[in-house]
Amino acid sequence: MDKILISQEQIKQRIKELGVQINRDYQGKELVVVGVLTGAFMFTADLLREIKVPIERLEFISISSYGHSTESSGNIRVYLDLKKDIENKHVLLIEDIVDTGLTIHHLMELFEGRKPATIKLASLLYKPSREKYKINIDYLGFTIDNHFVYGYGLDLFGKCRQIPHIAIYSGDIKE
Ligand code: IMP
Repeated sequence: MDKILISQEQIKQRIKELGVQINRDYQGKELVVVGVLTGAFMFTADLLREIKVPIERLEFISISSYGHSTESSGNIRVYLDLKKDIENKHVLLIEDIVDTGLTIHHLMELFEGRKPATIKLASLLYKPSREKYKINIDYLGFTIDNHFVYGYGLDLFGKCRQIPHIAIYSGDIKE
């Protein structure tokens, strides 16, 4: 069996702490929460339960990024976009993991072009050793070493998303 890196209890506790920060930072404001599919679905659901400020709406976006060019277009494929615009809204983007940073880099660029009042990022995990794009994570769950991890929404070759903790895959990953 693969090793547990972050237990269910640790995740629960950290999400409570992130909720406290979010509630403090957004006092008096209303939020548009955007979960990034598919990996962030569980984190989004649990973090949302800790958010006490009003949430105007919850949306999901499904994207994939490709290439390492820094050009602003053509690097992101949007499979499912937001239903309504985010102009002048306070947007909280929720991601599962920032690995090289490529996906979030392009997603932020896309969203900034839509002129939100503010945009902040919550990510459950961050792998600094893999960083290619400097990403500012406003609400970070855990910094992890360079492991391939799965569970709690993150997949292992499409599977295992339902595992309630974060596990380290001990097999080989071909990049
Ligand atoms: P980035 O664009 O390199 O930052 O990669 C982000 C995406 O790659 C995440 O949203 C995940 O879907 C996927 N990913 C990166 N590392 C892992 C991992 O360790 N386990 C599962 N998915 C991962």
